[in-house]
Amino acid sequence: MKSDIASTFLPVAPPVILDGLYSDDQRRRMLDVVRREGPWSLILAQYFSSPEEVIATTTGRLPEGFKPTWDMFLNPVFRGYFARDGVNYFPELDDCFYNPKFINLVRDYWKTPYVECDQLMFNLQGPSSAGGAPHVDGTHFRGLYGNNAPTWLLNIMAKSGLFRRWQAKKAQVIAWYYQGTIGGGFHYWPDGPDKSPATLEAPMWGRGVVVENEMMFHSSQGCGPVDQRRPAGLTIKSTISADPETSNGWRIKTGDEVVAKVPEKEFRLLIHWGAQVYGDLAELKLARDHSDDMTVDRAIDMLISDLRARGETFEVPTDPVRDPDFISLLTRVYDIGQLKDVPEDPSAPRRAA
Ligand SMILES: [Fe+2]
Repeated sequence: MKSDIASTFLPVAPPVILDGLYSDDQRRRMLDVVRREGPWSLILAQYFSSPEEVIATTTGRLPEGFKPTWDMFLNPVFRGYFARDGVNYFPELDDCFYNPKFINLVRDYWKTPYVECDQLMFNLQGPSSAGGAPHVDGTHFRGLYGNNAPTWLLNIMAKSGLFRRWQAKKAQVIAWYYQGTIGGGFHYWPDGPDKSPATLEAPMWGRGVVVENEMMFHSSQGCGPVDQRRPAGLTIKSTISADPETSNGWRIKTGDEVVAKVPEKEFRLLIHWGAQVYGDLAELKLARDHSDDMTVDRAIDMLISDLRARGETFEVPTDPVRDPDFISLLTRVYDIGQLKDVPEDPSAPRRAA
């Protein structure tokens, strides 16, 4: 493990574990929107335009000349947004998004009053595997966001440690609803990726965590029967939606074809509320007046200087943002290595408590 990089990945405070994050009424209203508004696409399909970009966001590293394919990463986990960039799309969920309880949890967590509601999103899954290596969540920097910079670049910037001055301060309140009997928990590395992880075990019904997932490695635990975790016919274009034939079931489709049905008892719902945090008013002002913004060109220049300082020899590509060889080089140099004690996905039911 490259300790100079790995040791910088510590959350601002230890995760706080809480129960009853949403009321039954709030959960029902959120689920009503999810069932009404689908279908929802794969997480992978929403953030990446090539398999190389997936590699760049994880700790993985490929042998020279190996060409990754989507098939390596396909996992039936889907995502949608209730609120994004500070805007709630569904007025019936105002209390879930503009959530005073969560705002105050994050104020306590970061020790600052300046907290701004950023997003409310959900992951939907039936039986699935952990879905890749543990990761840190995509972050952004003053001036560079998901809508004007590729995900892989933002992740490399975070891993490099060169851009902390511009990096957003964030926190999340994440809640799970899963009553299946196999797996379905949450692994996290609160003491850094070179120390042993902790696991929040399922079953969970409104239990969750206050975390800083941009600076803490984490992963979900695989869930459900092993032989159902990879439906035949699943592709990068598959979607999930409410199953009209059952009152609480779901179905996964590829085009018009139903490739899997997910019964309520195997359905895992994650609700992810995210906030932006400012340490003081000066920092808030810098974010708002754009007097200290990062740009893609400046970020690439800083990365190239750092690669040279590290003794790497390479040709600067004409289109570095889309050049697979350049992306692979950055991935190798800022690889934090293997995380300590990555748990195996469980295959057998938990023992009854
Ligand atoms: Fe994550």
